[in-house]
Amino acid sequence: MKYYTIDQISTLNHDHKKLARFAVIGNPVEHSLSPQLHQPALDDLGEDARYLRVEVKAGQVREAFQKLYSAGIHGINVTVPHKLEALEACDIVDPAAQIMGAVNTIVFDQNGNCTGLNTDGPGFARAIREEFSVDLGDLKVVVIGAGGGAGRAIATQCAIENCPQIILANRTLEKLHPMKEQLSNLVAREELKGPRDRIEIISLSDPSLEQAIESSELIVNTTSVGLKTIDPSPFPSHWVEPHHLVYDTIYNPERTRLLRESQDQGARAANGLSLLIHQGALSLEYWLNRDVPLELMREGVKNALRE
Ligand code: ATR
Repeated sequence: MKYYTIDQISTLNHDHKKLARFAVIGNPVEHSLSPQLHQPALDDLGEDARYLRVEVKAGQVREAFQKLYSAGIHGINVTVPHKLEALEACDIVDPAAQIMGAVNTIVFDQNGNCTGLNTDGPGFARAIREEFSVDLGDLKVVVIGAGGGAGRAIATQCAIENCPQIILANRTLEKLHPMKEQLSNLVAREELKGPRDRIEIISLSDPSLEQAIESSELIVNTTSVGLKTIDPSPFPSHWVEPHHLVYDTIYNPERTRLLRESQDQGARAANGLSLLIHQGALSLEYWLNRDVPLELMREGVKNALRE
């Protein structure tokens, strides 16, 4: 079964040895890699638990939460396009997820009340540590595509980690004005440079983007530019210098033009696979309240991507 629909939830445990315990909801959801990410970890930990996909239409997220809980589901991941609707459907929302404007992890209590969290931001911080052996909070960061869902989560995490500089860049500048306000409230105020000055916004077409990139240590691409192999780099990649760390949230294709050209420029570069793995691992940690086997999760996804 590639995925269930909301009407098939009562049949989740038909003809299966292991109980349906965790699910990802989305639309479309057929290609979600979450089962391949989570199932190897659940099996290794000896959990009597299956992780499955459920297709949920817009407007049905709250109903899906209730039906899944009643069917014995312990935890849910939420993918596109439901991360905002999920936030609105939760009984409790983690404050960071509230600012990110998106929920990707649902935890139920014994009464079926659901708490919404966002593991994309903290998962990103872990991914940066893994890839570059540095703490996100020590880096001057430019987020290319900060107006999109992933960009917003990552920019919020940068503010939570108190990065010394956060430049938010987006094709559509208007999306960034309210974000700058919100994130300025988050960053600590005791620094010499005021919180307002530490967060800057810039349009992708502004000529001073080159200078903004030069002044940064970590460049993160969160735009969808690069998903197609023919896509250009989201900004001229000859602006990348050897001192830069470049992180592209795209992992398929494995090496976008931005990553290839950044490496040619002498920079260290990594793709979004580590973010996918760490955000998933964090969800599983919330649900099981224990450490999870990260390398098995990585292998599971890598195998799925090879298929
Ligand atoms: P989401 O659902 O996460 O909001 P999206 O619509 O795919 O995702 O857009 C993600 C990001 O990619 C946004 O920052 C978007 O810029 P806009 O806010 O201006 O739409 C950016 N993006 C998408 N296509 C782009 C392109 N061709 N050039 C530059 N940025 C682009």
